[in-house]
Amino acid sequence: MSTPTPPKPSLPAERLSPWWRRSVYATVVIGFTVLILLTVKVHYDAPPIPGRVVDARGELLFSKQNILHGQQLFLEHGLMNNGSIWGHGGYLGPDYSAQYLHTLAVHAAETLSRQHFNQPVAALTVAQRAMIEALVRSELKENRFDPHSDTLTVTDAEAESYLQQQDMWSDFFSAPEKNGGLPAQFLTKGENLSDLTAFFAWTAWAAVTRRPGEQTTYTNNFPYDPLAGNEPSGAAVLWSAVSLIALLGGTALVLLAFGKFDYLGWKSTERHIAPMLIPGQPTPAQRAVIKFFVIVALLFLVQALIGGVTAHYRAEPGDFYGFDLSGFFPSNVMRTWHLQLAIFWIASAYVAGALLLASELGGRQSNNQAAFIHVLFAALVIVVAGSLLGEWAGTFQLMGDLSFWFGQQGWEFLELGRAWQLGLAVALVYWFLLLVRDVKPALRSPDLKELTVFFLVAALAVPVFYLPAMFFDSTTHWSIVDTWRFWIIHLWVEGFFEFFVTVLVAVILSGLGVVSRITATRVIYLDAIMYFGGGLIGTGHHWYFNGHSELNMALSAIFSAMEVIPLTLLTLDAWDFVKVTRTQRDLSGERIPVPHEWTFYFIMAVGTWNFFGAGVFGFLIN
Ligand code: HEM
Ligand SMILES: [Fe+2]
Repeated sequence: MSTPTPPKPSLPAERLSPWWRRSVYATVVIGFTVLILLTVKVHYDAPPIPGRVVDARGELLFSKQNILHGQQLFLEHGLMNNGSIWGHGGYLGPDYSAQYLHTLAVHAAETLSRQHFNQPVAALTVAQRAMIEALVRSELKENRFDPHSDTLTVTDAEAESYLQQQDMWSDFFSAPEKNGGLPAQFLTKGENLSDLTAFFAWTAWAAVTRRPGEQTTYTNNFPYDPLAGNEPSGAAVLWSAVSLIALLGGTALVLLAFGKFDYLGWKSTERHIAPMLIPGQPTPAQRAVIKFFVIVALLFLVQALIGGVTAHYRAEPGDFYGFDLSGFFPSNVMRTWHLQLAIFWIASAYVAGALLLASELGGRQSNNQAAFIHVLFAALVIVVAGSLLGEWAGTFQLMGDLSFWFGQQGWEFLELGRAWQLGLAVALVYWFLLLVRDVKPALRSPDLKELTVFFLVAALAVPVFYLPAMFFDSTTHWSIVDTWRFWIIHLWVEGFFEFFVTVLVAVILSGLGVVSRITATRVIYLDAIMYFGGGLIGTGHHWYFNGHSELNMALSAIFSAMEVIPLTLLTLDAWDFVKVTRTQRDLSGERIPVPHEWTFYFIMAVGTWNFFGAGVFGFLIN
């Protein structure tokens, strides 16, 4: 028997310093200002698309229209889910820009070898070969684009390679064994293939040619190819090292703060807090949400199975257990579905989780909420099924001009047709309004107001940051599209989703009465400062090699390295959770069992894997 402890004298009311809010505002304003400046800057820094590309005699090889039509073909055929451009896309096929560039360097070496020594490269002496390789590098690196006449003049070797590569790419697209599982004869010779090759040629040109007045190329020397003279730039090495120091310095600062202010983190409270979330009867609206979780589980299962099919294509592209699957379910469609399904189940889980907690937060049942949730569910099913079917039909060129609206747009992670994207955005706004209905009473409670505002801001950020998906189409400059694509993907997963999870966990923990509202709110502010402090400017880590400047490389290397700091703190969080669940005692000193114990285990597990996935592997990839 434990001895009863006397009741505690009541503690003075806790208050949060206004500096928390001011610091979050400052972080967000500075972060977005820099991000907007970098976004404006890429319009000046992106590699130009020449109006005309001519050979040494001034004969037209191809034009801007050809290049952009090639890009359009690339996207409409779902090739970004086969191979990549400047490193962005699938790994089933090659990096098209790197493959074109390397082939070009080999062709150029042969052409120059015959010009200078009248022999193939294989027959040259070591000294002769070194000379030819130096010539290849200097020819490819020289920038012959004239902005006044909007004309790019290429060398004989480059012109010859462009013609030869059309045969090479035609062969590449002829059979699934050669390309990681595309349908046979996916693209055949003719106008289409020459335009596609023109697009590849332009991406290779931007990757190898020096920016005017600079030593590095438009893509900061990416991809690596010593034959073409592409080696890691000095800036890449410098800023990689500086980013490590930023990570160390930032970690030290945060540890200092945690040492000095021992109340930071998920600390339990001495006083008893009346829990809101008591296990019991779910409301009709909460019951209406259950089917979302069933769908989430199903989508996840299908996604993993399709991931298996995609992996099979990597191993045996032309043969699926004795059967050629590429004619019906080619690898680029499988990979598209794999990515889209991931986005759908993750987004659905957020949608459902927020709906589930909203009615707890508001403490009431809004009229007909269940019926409104059924409508949202129907919309979700239509968008998921419709967009996946559309991606299949679009990739097979069955939809003509409708493909843009309902089929395959081609941009990795944003493949679904524009109409489905609009549907998704509208559904997410509708979801936000459902949340507002439910949490309204909490907005009037002084105790819950701040937490509720966070909850709504985090939810609203999801549809708002989907809007950049509407800013481009298949003929927009690649560098500009890649900039907007990561305003969505990066800011969702490395900004607002993390923030949202923090808010959901805060609502759960304070709802269960294991931490005070003040503690929960303070953790949200702290996490917001850390996540947005690194994550907003860190967006540029997706822009290292796609036409942005060295300034972007420097800033985003430093800030994205600091994204790891809050992830490292997840290990501290895990211990806070253990303590929080064990320290609650009743008046007689007996431990109070925490309701929903498994919720805590789940949150700890998510934190652990978040640290490994985003922290360890995220840093590695950075
Ligand atoms: C058994 C489960 C899974 C298998 C077998 C699998 C398989 C694959 C394969 C083979 C690729 C590479 C395709 C290529 O070569 O381009 C891939 C890419 C990818 N998978 Fe999975 N996957 C699985 C689960 C997941 C899950 C659970 C997620 C996320 C929730 C996920 C997200 C992704 C993403 C985002 C990519 C693209 C990566 C990039 O392009 O950088 N996968 N998956
Ligand atoms: Fe990112």
